[in-house]
Amino acid sequence: SANLRELLLSRIRDVPDYPKPGVVFKDITPLLADPVAFNALVDALAEMCARHGATKVVGLEARGFILAAPAAARAGLGFVPVRKAGKLPGPTLTQSYELEYGTAQIEVHADAMTDGDRVLVIDDVLATGGTAEASLELVRRCGATVAGVAVMLELGFLGGRQRLAPSLGGAPLEALVAV
Ligand code: PRP
Ligand code: MG
Repeated sequence: SANLRELLLSRIRDVPDYPKPGVVFKDITPLLADPVAFNALVDALAEMCARHGATKVVGLEARGFILAAPAAARAGLGFVPVRKAGKLPGPTLTQSYELEYGTAQIEVHADAMTDGDRVLVIDDVLATGGTAEASLELVRRCGATVAGVAVMLELGFLGGRQRLAPSLGGAPLEALVAV
């Protein structure tokens, strides 16, 4: 709703020139510190889990964990962490993705999702879409179905939605706030 959008937007702090000159960082810590806003956000994400028929929730380390874990619990679903490489005891699947300089890897336990699962991926921010795209590849490689991607904030000018379209294969990308 417009009310939720306004509430969330009012609790996201713009930090100019962080982590480097010319970048405006979207700081969600004021939102997390506000119990009314945080609770409303978790409710909205849990409602998306139900609406899209998810059977599991994937959260993307690190900031995605903060939103995805309570949303999964509230929706009555299991939570699956997608972690930066080297943190899971395994066996894992690894996916590389492009950063501005070089590449990064994320991993998931290979048995965390199976072909019976419909998976909603939750993260805080969609920027270029590289992180979410790699996570969808992991979902697919596990044999599970993509129920959708949900983010609190979409930075539309970075084109993440366009980049994600092929990996979504028609599944929804929902952003509670878009700028
Ligand atoms: C940030 C943010 C998203 C991602 C979005 O995570 O939390 O996960 O970037 O960017 P993209 O759409 O261009 O991939 P970051 O990698 O900074 O790490 P963190 O969540 O561990 O803080
Ligand atoms: Mg992140």
